Amino acid sequence: MSKLWSGRFSKGATKLLDEFNASLNFDKKLYSEDIQGSIAHATMLASVGILSPEECKDIVNGLNDIKDIIEKGEFVFDISDEDIHMAIEKKLIEIIGDTGKKLHTARSRNDQVALDFRLYVQKNTLLIIKALERLIAVLIDIAKQNTDTLLPGMTHLQHAQPINFAFHMLAYANMFKRDIDRLECSHKRNNVLPLGCAALAGTPHKIDRAKTAELLGFDSVSQNCLDTVSDRDFALEILFNISTSMMHVSRFAEELVLWSSYEFKFITLSDEYSTGSSIMPQKKNPDVPELLRGKTGRVNGNLISLLTVLKGLPLAYNKDMQEDKEGVFDSVETILLSLEILKEALATMRINKQNMQTACETGHLSATDLADYLVVNCDIPFREAHFITGHAVSYAEQKNKDLSQLNIKELKEVDNRINEDAIKYLDLRNSMNARNSYGGTSVISTKKQLEDFKNWLKERA
Ligand code: ARG
Repeated sequence: MSKLWSGRFSKGATKLLDEFNASLNFDKKLYSEDIQGSIAHATMLASVGILSPEECKDIVNGLNDIKDIIEKGEFVFDISDEDIHMAIEKKLIEIIGDTGKKLHTARSRNDQVALDFRLYVQKNTLLIIKALERLIAVLIDIAKQNTDTLLPGMTHLQHAQPINFAFHMLAYANMFKRDIDRLECSHKRNNVLPLGCAALAGTPHKIDRAKTAELLGFDSVSQNCLDTVSDRDFALEILFNISTSMMHVSRFAEELVLWSSYEFKFITLSDEYSTGSSIMPQKKNPDVPELLRGKTGRVNGNLISLLTVLKGLPLAYNKDMQEDKEGVFDSVETILLSLEILKEALATMRINKQNMQTACETGHLSATDLADYLVVNCDIPFREAHFITGHAVSYAEQKNKDLSQLNIKELKEVDNRINEDAIKYLDLRNSMNARNSYGGTSVISTKKQLEDFKNWLKERA
């Protein structure tokens, strides 16, 4: 059979053009969305009398047969069919005969591809949300066991104040929770049917778009056909959502790389999720977090790439838009795999509590506590208290000690107004527990955050 659009052509396409023009090699991924959309379209056409009930039945059966053939791996893809839409339509005509030629009534590939791609994005948005929930569940599990595990909290990658490991895990859980929220907002906003817009201007056929929307689970029907066939905002949104989420994954990955180094030794990644070196027998490399960090770059590229494709396009559909799919497929597949492996790497890593605690004993983590003590207990203005504490830090360094290890005699040498009770403020665990403000790192506050998170997750189940 010649090309379905070949009526006005006297010569066939060259092989080179077929190769250049075709999207079949990658858009065959959309086969199930294409069939789902075509079944809904045929059902709607029958409901308004454009197709007879028998014709509709033949088309639906034919499409279901094609789905089986594809899933059995028996469909012969031929790039001279250009794309998945043409390949399936041609096969339908081959299987059921002339009735198959009626399926494309009141439809264009422009609204068809907009539909298929949107169905793919909507479906995968929900899969990413589920994967994020599973990751959060692991973070919560780790947090539950580590509300009292001291860890140096950092700013500028320098020791700042003591926090607990659960608090640190819950920070990431919050990021992934926002990602879920963002994905849900996008899903809601984009749950709009594009089909029925035809090429760009609508159709003279008396179709029922609301019916198609209902059959496909969309909340509403797009308002302006010209906008609809040229709109790829839904694709940009999932790319942005994935990039943001992968940026969170990447920051986490960076910490895992640092923490698993000899310098930190806060965690030990399990052998199952570590790799060796081909030359250095002693090496155990954190390839998993490194790859997570690296893949984020490619995912960001996909977002910039689609923004760039779209930025100069006049209305409505332009073939440039065929370049919209590969980046989205890649980002979706990358994040689903990344979230899964991050979850497993976290669930199987060892947490070296003692090393975290030891690390807290350098860097004068309770310095702010001494300053606050001077303000509250000695009535010293904060700026001056800050200065005195700075002295105490340099005094401790001269003695090769951490601030938390100074005794009262030494503290009094720094400033005579410091009393015995200051010692308890310098204790690292007391320092952590002092930060009891809403959202703070104290064990009580962390447990409260943990409880809220558990309830949030339970409500979603
Ligand atoms: N393969 C095309 C794409 O992915 C489908 C739409 C083609 N429409 C057209 N008028 N050529 O964008």
